[in-house]
Amino acid sequence: MLKRFSVSLEDALLDDFDEYIKRRQYTNRSEAIRDLIRQVFIKEEWGTDGEVMGVITLVYDHHQFQIQERITEIQHDLHHLIVSTTHVHMDHHNCLEVLIVRGKAATVRDLADKLIALRGVKNGHLATTSTGKSF
Ligand code: NI
Repeated sequence: MLKRFSVSLEDALLDDFDEYIKRRQYTNRSEAIRDLIRQVFIKEEWGTDGEVMGVITLVYDHHQFQIQERITEIQHDLHHLIVSTTHVHMDHHNCLEVLIVRGKAATVRDLADKLIALRGVKNGHLATTSTGKSF
């Protein structure tokens, strides 16, 4: 059930917020505020020992010596954190690997760090989300 509440803001802050809403293509303030509140909760969950979900993306050159073996080894060591993986051959050199991960925040972050720090990974990113108890 939706409940209404009113918020008081300084003119300048509200102007900035309305600009943000337009930039991010929200159709109204409420949806933008809901998303911002959820972001805060997700960030908080990632700071605790709770179970979270995330997506790790890796771009790497598969010609780099032993990179494929290292990536596979790390994923097998921590297989219990990995829900699914997708591998796309971007071009002759580059691969994009996407891992959907789930587990305790610190362990998921550790997996992402291990993979992203590998020599030959040109770009790596962990997108943090959550099952979200309250949404
Ligand atoms: Ni590939």
